[in-house]
Amino acid sequence: MEEKNMTKKVYLYKRFERFWHWSQTILIFALTFTGFEIHGVSNFIGYENAVVWHNNAAWAFIILIIFAIFWHLTTDEWRNYIPTVNNFKAQVNYYLTGIFRHAPHPTKKLTLSKLNPLQRLVYFGLKILLIPLMVASGLLYMYFHYPLQGIELDSLKYIAILHTLGAYLLISFVIIHLYLITTGRTLTSNLNAMITGWDEMEEDEIKGIVIEAVDGAGLRIRSEKGDEKSRAEVKSILVNALKETEYKVMEDDMEGQKKEIKRKK
Ligand code: HEM
Repeated sequence: MEEKNMTKKVYLYKRFERFWHWSQTILIFALTFTGFEIHGVSNFIGYENAVVWHNNAAWAFIILIIFAIFWHLTTDEWRNYIPTVNNFKAQVNYYLTGIFRHAPHPTKKLTLSKLNPLQRLVYFGLKILLIPLMVASGLLYMYFHYPLQGIELDSLKYIAILHTLGAYLLISFVIIHLYLITTGRTLTSNLNAMITGWDEMEEDEIKGIVIEAVDGAGLRIRSEKGDEKSRAEVKSILVNALKETEYKVMEDDMEGQKKEIKRKK
């Protein structure tokens, strides 16, 4: 019989991160729906309503982006998006062939390295290029269109083209994203993780997370000056790191262990 890999639950997606992810999802769907209504592709709520709701959703999106930037900079989360070439080829091969023959995933998740190299590249592009392009072209569009206190621009044409092109790129991303969500351990495991925050991980991934926490504690201790620092302080840093790890790694095989102990008695 095939040995099933032991998995444990790890707290990977924090509360703000999940709030940001789902609010962004709703807003991008609302902007797409109203945007294409404005574009004349559909006619459900009418042009006038679509303009009002597109503008409202756009402001909500901008406010959310400001909070998200603040969150990324004040936590170490921005590190997740630094592009890397490590494992890049293996990841591309995995998506081209490995995924269809259930090969093991080439990138192991860590709490500060949740994304594989392809995700890093794509999300980096989204944050640095596509979303700023949508916001900038959208705002120019908005203020060019309502010229009372508007910006002087020769032609709206190029802005409209850029904004619409960006919309198509964003929709392509969403479609690929929706497909990839279903390629986790089970059809819904990635979706569940982004709803609850808890992801299921194999033991070697968990070991990586423990090493990450201990490394982090090591760095913090090394950055403390001289040896006049009391041992109590150093100890408290380590205790905190262990507490953090304990919190992240929830023993979901506890019941199994209890049964094992009973059986041995
Ligand atoms: C903060 C971000 C955004 C702002 C400020 C913004 C603003 C605008 C404005 C002012 C218009 C013109 C409305 C009018 O004709 O009066 C527009 C049109 C449009 N928007 Fe956005 N938008 C944003 C994000 C998005 C996103 C995320 C999408 C879709 C993925 C999108 C899709 C569209 C489309 C398809 C049009 C119609 C373009 C055309 O027909 O020329 N927008 N947007």
